[in-house]
Amino acid sequence: MTLLIERRGEFAVESVSLDAIAQRFGTPCYVYSKAALVDAYSRYRRAFADHEHRILYAVKANSNLAILKLFNNLGSGFDIVSGGELARVLAAGADPSRIVFSGVGKSQSEIVQALAARIACFNVESEPELERVSRLATDCGVRANVSLRVNPDVDARTHPYISTGLRQDKFGIPHEQALALYRKANQLPGVRIAGIDCHIGSQLTTAAPFAAAFERVIALADALRSEGIAIEHIDVGGGLGIRYRPEDEPPSIEQYVHALTSRLGERRLSIMVEPGRSMVGNAGLLLTRVEYLKATPERSFVVVDAAMNDLIRPALYDAWHEIRALNHRSPEAARLCQVVGPVCESGDFIGRDRTLALEADDLIAVLSAGAYGMSMSSNYNSRPRAAEVIVDGDRAHLVRARETIAELYARESFLPE
Ligand code: LLP
Repeated sequence: MTLLIERRGEFAVESVSLDAIAQRFGTPCYVYSKAALVDAYSRYRRAFADHEHRILYAVKANSNLAILKLFNNLGSGFDIVSGGELARVLAAGADPSRIVFSGVGKSQSEIVQALAARIACFNVESEPELERVSRLATDCGVRANVSLRVNPDVDARTHPYISTGLRQDKFGIPHEQALALYRKANQLPGVRIAGIDCHIGSQLTTAAPFAAAFERVIALADALRSEGIAIEHIDVGGGLGIRYRPEDEPPSIEQYVHALTSRLGERRLSIMVEPGRSMVGNAGLLLTRVEYLKATPERSFVVVDAAMNDLIRPALYDAWHEIRALNHRSPEAARLCQVVGPVCESGDFIGRDRTLALEADDLIAVLSAGAYGMSMSSNYNSRPRAAEVIVDGDRAHLVRARETIAELYARESFLPE
């Protein structure tokens, strides 16, 4: 679905003009389309058809309560990585039997919190974590369902910071140690083996690494079965890439799901997926306004009111987001420019070397910002976090109010005099 549309000379998300949103809620502001969110979930759902499956939205991509509740109402489950995310999904009304807990560093209190909530499964990443889960579950008088997260040693060919399935990464249990750890899990009193888990990275733009990882994991499932350890599901994690540039061609949701289901053969295994970016990434944009045009002898800067604290992806991963000027200036007025924020760092850019026709006060849309935008935002430079708005048809709903400055230091105190 195309998020930003131009109709009768106006730029809009669904049927609400971005000009109206900027007037009403101010900038910077994240704007999401409810229809695009529903569409992404529905495509996953339809692609699995009647294959046994579970879609577990990866909360870290965008953890706004309204988005969680929307996915929950559609039937989605959730992949969480912290006690904070657990509290969020429960606050959004999630059924604990549709929650799995991933992550390499689950603390005792997080595990206890998840046991008390009776979540569906822990994706365990190491032997000491397995022992800890078993011990805490025994203390609580329950058995915890577990999957071991296997590191299949597959190159996801993505940015090194978001690649997780190589031997040298901190994630998962090395493939060759997995069988031994499953045997151990099978003996532990506090756990019940439910599945196998893997996740090889994020923003993958070809299906081949998913297929390679899946095949390795299926082989492990077969080996376990021959030892009498039957598993019920394979969780393949998330990672499906989205189109940031027009020329990007990641597999579609349908192709991705087919690459999985077609490899199962006769095996009666449920497939779990943990999509984050592909559920929300192209359903949201960051709306920002030009503060100044500033020309130096070297370059032309467009200083906007959004910064790296609002959207850190360009600074952190050198990520490219399409930037659209929401005006009707003549193309002849377009200049090569650097779109930068007000934060005091040269790494504070939204886009470099863009050709845009802009003047002060113009609005700009930064596209594909629905995933890892707001959820990675900070208060750096004591900047209040942006507002978030979901458009549903011709209505715009504020789903997170802009932070106030007083909130930023409300928890701080002075030393005694
Ligand atoms: N499951 C696990 C265990 C994960 O670690 C992740 C993402 C996902 C699922 C969801 O992956 P997705 O479908 O969104 O690719 N901040 C980075 C992305 C970090 C991804 C971390 N893990 C970025 O802005 O590109």
